[in-house]
Amino acid sequence: MIHAAITGWGKCLPPAVLTNADLATFLDTDDEWIVSRTGMKERRISHVPLGELARVAASRALACAGVAPEALDLIIVGSTVGDELAPNMASGLQHRLGATRAASMDLNTACTSFLYGLSTATALIRTGVLETALVVGGEVPSPFMDWEDRNTAVLFGDGCGAVVVRATDREEGLLAERLGCAADARGALDIRGVGARFANLGIPYGHTHWIFEGQEIFKRAVLEMTRAGEEALAKRGLSIGDVDLVVPHQANQRIIDAVGRRLGASPERTMLTVHKYANMSAATVPVALVEALEEGRVKPGAWLLLPAFGAGLTWCAHLVKWGERTTPLGSSDAELPPCDRTALEIVNELRARRARHAAAARPQLDAVQALLGA
Ligand code: UT7
Repeated sequence: MIHAAITGWGKCLPPAVLTNADLATFLDTDDEWIVSRTGMKERRISHVPLGELARVAASRALACAGVAPEALDLIIVGSTVGDELAPNMASGLQHRLGATRAASMDLNTACTSFLYGLSTATALIRTGVLETALVVGGEVPSPFMDWEDRNTAVLFGDGCGAVVVRATDREEGLLAERLGCAADARGALDIRGVGARFANLGIPYGHTHWIFEGQEIFKRAVLEMTRAGEEALAKRGLSIGDVDLVVPHQANQRIIDAVGRRLGASPERTMLTVHKYANMSAATVPVALVEALEEGRVKPGAWLLLPAFGAGLTWCAHLVKWGERTTPLGSSDAELPPCDRTALEIVNELRARRARHAAAARPQLDAVQALLGA
């Protein structure tokens, strides 16, 4: 039986840090509210497009695996809002890396995109279609935030993670997963302004208006992540006691705590990054996985459970058996270009650009909002 081992891992976080105090300079919010409701203290804001973060994270993952870009058979870029749609993000990454043999596909299931990508790559390896794949989970939501909306603006951050997956006859890698979608609740998280539906109505692309029912998403996320985790474990006849580390999607520390309590996973066996990076959507799980490895929290042969949810509402949980190696084979010298602005300066530029767009598109915005009742 062919399995798909995770042999390389890499991350790229943009350097500019946006604190809760920074957010309070232009929003009616404060550190106490954000920390007590979400666990978030700061998040990163990117000075470059997602493709650059993906290049660096992918180069690090490839070096970690000791795999040359030319050896890749497939690149999957999992993301909600990529830099471009046609051509896709993955072909851009193929080009940047020089991975000339790789088929290249984008995958969007919102925050679960990396994990759905891991399922896809693993299935293609198990069935013998290919041998070596790169799976990227990345997101740069900062240009698409409605920075004047305190309900959503405080929750997200930019970042990227990547893994290399290779065929092996050892029983390791992704060994069971449960994938699903609660589409009846898809309206609870609706980012209006990043699809053709709104461009066709005359709204500038990226001028987003977030429909966001936080409490509804919260409840569904806890239910579905717990169910997915239990069902993934049951597929292997395992229980939560067999799991060495839970690496969940990082949307809110209270969601993570609630899922942990229901599953029976202690906080000591749960990886947390939400306090420093906030919700990086498709990037949260791969970045948390990379940091767990860097911190020595993934032991050889460990069982990992990766529950997640995202807009859609897509949900899933992945059960991974780690291999023997928990340290990189090599390192990459890939770096981002230097950043000469603070995160708050970048955000204030985005806010100013958005205000210019809004002024230019005011009649269309009013008409569309009347049409949609928003
Ligand atoms: O990965 C997928 C995306 N992530 C999610 O979908 C996250 C899921 N939901 C959540 O994490 C939580 O529901 C939130 C963090 C969004 C909100 O937490 P909550 O405990 O459910 O708060 P709430 O919705 O009950 O809001 C309570 C109050 C409201 O004021 P009123 O109406 O009670 O006067 C909000 O207007 O908190 C207010 N509020 C804020 N106050 C200060 C909302 N955002 C803020 C803010 N600062 N940033």
